[in-house]
Amino acid sequence: MAGLSMKNVSKSFANGFAAVKEFNIEVEDGEFIVLAGPSGCGKSTTLRMIAGLEDITAGEILIGGHKVNDVETKDRDVAMVFQNYALYPDMTVYENMAFGLKMRHMPEEKIDREVRWAARLLHLEPLLDHMPRMLSDGQRQRVAVGRAVVRRPKVFLMDEPLSNLDEELRLQTRRELKRIQEELKSTVIYVTQDQTEAMALGSRIVVMNDGEIQQIGTPEELYRNPCNKFVAGFIGSPRMNLFDVTVEQDKTCAVLVFGEHRITLTEEKSAPLLNGGYAGKTIVCGIRPEDFRIGKACKIGEGGSVEAVIQVQEAVGDEMFLYFQVDEIGFVARNGKGIDDHPGDRIRVCPDASRFYLFDPATERIITN
Ligand SMILES: Nc1ncnc2c1ncn2[C@@H]1O[C@H](COP(=O)(O)OP(=O)(O)OP(=O)(O)O)[C@@H](O)[C@H]1O
Ligand SMILES: [Mg+2]
Repeated sequence: MAGLSMKNVSKSFANGFAAVKEFNIEVEDGEFIVLAGPSGCGKSTTLRMIAGLEDITAGEILIGGHKVNDVETKDRDVAMVFQNYALYPDMTVYENMAFGLKMRHMPEEKIDREVRWAARLLHLEPLLDHMPRMLSDGQRQRVAVGRAVVRRPKVFLMDEPLSNLDEELRLQTRRELKRIQEELKSTVIYVTQDQTEAMALGSRIVVMNDGEIQQIGTPEELYRNPCNKFVAGFIGSPRMNLFDVTVEQDKTCAVLVFGEHRITLTEEKSAPLLNGGYAGKTIVCGIRPEDFRIGKACKIGEGGSVEAVIQVQEAVGDEMFLYFQVDEIGFVARNGKGIDDHPGDRIRVCPDASRFYLFDPATERIITN
């Protein structure tokens, strides 16, 4: 196993399109790094550059401290698992997993030990004699992972390996992957569009957009301290509510004005706004779904509560999501037990202003949270 280092790595394709720009990261040995971001943001391109399947236009990639820019894929000691994990259809599960080792001329008995070890790890022992067509999607996926695991590579590269699986199997295989990674203490770079998966798997997450790293951090850091509006909106489910407010000044406090509504911030929260010259300007305000109190939980006459129109309540497991509008703008709140009111009814909602995330409208960077 080994760490990975990427320094100012960029990729422009032959048509001039810059798919990855100035990518920098230091990955420690044994970390589970997730590259996350919307479709087309450059995740697969980044992974393919690490694998050596794609030339890099500029920068440096080091695996285990050695520069690999000009090292061929087969000599980089990385193993890839793709979304479309083609198994060899005419080989058994055992042969599929043994194939890469045979190609490396590993002795027969050592191959056997490795394959059986991986099969035990992945709960594939009863299936070793089966042909791929006899397997479920999840089982096939595990064989693809097994094929990578037996090689004991320095770095595992996985590109949306679970996206073909149904929900249940995806969650199960996700837990297995995490367990195996912890057991092997391997370095993993894992690509996904799904922020929930990123949060569940990553020791750190790299959030990308338009070929650029937006932020790198632990799931908790990204959730609590997003550096900009994009990360704030990307991490968290349901997503953070984002809406425009105008900043007014009332002595040493900032007042956020939203339609008829006025919410006064504490002096502490106001300072970065007023010192930053935002008085009189329109900025972007964010609030997470869990930071509302709803209906009776808002005390009567409490400042900062606003009237909302209920759109729909959605039960998700043992949780309720309440969708509502304030002045025609849609919001979502996490609302534990749910409420008795119905679509179209009016209720009071009370956002917790101490938890507001405030963003610069032009740069989209966080001003304060
Ligand atoms: N050979 C190529 N020539 C030109 N542009 C390319 C080429 N390959 C990829 N791209 C573009 O580079 C961008 C990044 O592609 P990439 O496959 O890395 O995205 P991704 O983040 O993996 O997306 P997805 O989540 O949909 O898999 C895309 O806009 C894509 O259209
Ligand atoms: Mg991709």
